[in-house]
Amino acid sequence: MTLAAGAAYANPVAPGDVSFSDTGAIAESLTGTPGDAASGAKVLADRGAGNCVACHKISSLDAAFQGTVGPSLDGVGDRWDSAQLRGLVANAKHTFPGTIMPSFYKTAGYIRPGDEFSGKAAKGDLQPLLSAEQVEDVVAFLTTLKQQ
Ligand code: HEC
Repeated sequence: MTLAAGAAYANPVAPGDVSFSDTGAIAESLTGTPGDAASGAKVLADRGAGNCVACHKISSLDAAFQGTVGPSLDGVGDRWDSAQLRGLVANAKHTFPGTIMPSFYKTAGYIRPGDEFSGKAAKGDLQPLLSAEQVEDVVAFLTTLKQQ
């Protein structure tokens, strides 16, 4: 038990252990350290990572084909604090029930594609779409998006 408690400091909070406030915020950093905004900007624009730009426009980001399915993220750092932004990135459904925005830090509770047809869908928890570190990097970047 002492071992497990010690390890908790070194390891990120696992997706299943994240606690959300009533408004959908996550108070504490998932990694215990602040994220890196420059790395976060890359995750947002990377089609193989966050791919946030598929649905959101961010004027300061140099990325082609930015989508308009979701609201523009310009000035989002004025609208939400970092705890609420962390909750939005991890699982936006706690803030906006029924939203089409994917949950980026979640491993359980999915309907397995394929299971209904073949029964051959993967068993066990899936990998989250973003790592805890990537979530923190994205949050760090989002907090810099302020209207001048
Ligand atoms: C499939 C489309 C889609 C993707 C991909 C997506 N979002 Fe969203 N997002 C939305 C929609 C739609 C909303 C508006 C909430 C609602 O009412 O459903 C939203 C809301 C938000 C908000 C709140 C904005 C505000 O001003 O209130 C933030 C912050 C956000 N998204 C960040 C992100 C980040 C960061 C990523 C990538 C890691 C991302 N989103 C990926 C669709 C998406």
